[in-house]
Amino acid sequence: MKDSSSVAAMTTVSLQCLDPKCGAQYPVRDVRSECACGNLLDVRYEWSDFDAEAVKQVWKTRAMSLDPRDRSGVWRFRELIPFLPPEARVVTLREGNTPLLEAPHAADYAGLDLLAFKHQGFNPTGSFKDNGMTTGVSQAAALDKHVVACVSTGNTSASMAAYAAYGGLQAVIFIPAGQIASGKLAQALEYGALTIQVQANFDVTWKLVFHMVEEAGVYLLNSVNPFRVEGQKTIVVEMMEQLAWEAPDWIVLPGGNLGNSSAFGKGLREMKQLGLIARLPRLAVIQAEGSAPLYRLLQRAAAEGRSPWEIGLEPVASPQTLATAIRIGAPVSWKKALRELEATRGVCEAVSEQEIADAKAVIGLCGIGCEPASAATLAGIRKLVAANVIRKSDRVVAVLTGNLLKDPSYTLSYHEGTLALPREGPFDSAQGRQPAAIEPRFGNRPIAVPPDPEAIRRLLARHPAR
Ligand code: F0G
Repeated sequence: MKDSSSVAAMTTVSLQCLDPKCGAQYPVRDVRSECACGNLLDVRYEWSDFDAEAVKQVWKTRAMSLDPRDRSGVWRFRELIPFLPPEARVVTLREGNTPLLEAPHAADYAGLDLLAFKHQGFNPTGSFKDNGMTTGVSQAAALDKHVVACVSTGNTSASMAAYAAYGGLQAVIFIPAGQIASGKLAQALEYGALTIQVQANFDVTWKLVFHMVEEAGVYLLNSVNPFRVEGQKTIVVEMMEQLAWEAPDWIVLPGGNLGNSSAFGKGLREMKQLGLIARLPRLAVIQAEGSAPLYRLLQRAAAEGRSPWEIGLEPVASPQTLATAIRIGAPVSWKKALRELEATRGVCEAVSEQEIADAKAVIGLCGIGCEPASAATLAGIRKLVAANVIRKSDRVVAVLTGNLLKDPSYTLSYHEGTLALPREGPFDSAQGRQPAAIEPRFGNRPIAVPPDPEAIRRLLARHPAR
């Protein structure tokens, strides 16, 4: 069996400005999340002698190894993320390794023949952020950083807190007060993060602390950090391996700060360039209607017949959605995401609160379950199938980004019929008016019963075995 040194002999690594007109490059050990011109940076590799078939074999063999890096669904693919020096410590909680689950009931709901969910909620802290946090925290350790920070709608902070604690670093998190799901806050506290609740939304908090954190010499682990993106791109690498390297027609994911969309596109382009896959799937990014700046930009560009680059992203000043993970009005990675949508002939769709809630319940009824933001995928697919953008026979993989248990109060309120729309929320497009509450179309209320055998017998008789 060939080892990694013979399947990808030489790689050079640098940081490069995302704007091809600037093209500035920096050494990979530079601590910076922006180019001097203000744009974000990509980790850029030049591979030579990359033998795609041999690499696939090496990855397969590693799946049976006990080396912690090989037990990780990120580092097992390390030929695609070769930015650490060979002697560097890898901080891994054995992230990745998430299943691809067939979901016929959800396919039916969306109007598709086949649909599979790649469930990132199976990660150690219950979200896809773990894929990027293992690489981000490992880079922090390689740079001798002892304190790491992020601004977060919840999952990034939970994940960073865990990886920092496991790696022996201190975590500092900034979260919008009262706007993150309870499961995520509980995780951050339990993992020992210094937890700062700012009385503002995500966008305001980000603007406030971004430069301050860097000036304080604290290592920033938001998705502007290009090493986070490197880990997240392995989600699509693992997905392609699970599909025997046959790319699906579509990969669908929710969009918030747009780091993950950027990561997926980069991973797909690199896999195509290296001969690991023969063609690129199309990306579909789904946003919540009340927090949909990328969707709005693309709609406007189409209506005006202009380039979205020329128009530029107009932030949503007061973003609203009950899917708090994606309640973001000024996504930091919009340029990277737009680049990837263009590269993959991708699309962006927006879905209402009612559509997200129903889709989430349908995913639950598949025995799969997810947090609200993740369910935007199924809601979006349903809309795109109805609009004939996705065809019934297309092969579609939707990425569920977070675990059902992240946001228990949303789920309970839905089933009890008390899930209320955000106060300044968007109009519900399905209704054309603003209803007071989400209608629990797939609600499943608990039934109270006295400790009376007759009453219980009557109930059982009313609910015969399926
Ligand atoms: N789904 C979930 C469950 C998320 O937590 C996020 C982002 C997204 C989707 C959107 O991903 O930002 O890469 O477009 N959560 C971030 C956080 C913002 O702070 O946890 P994105």
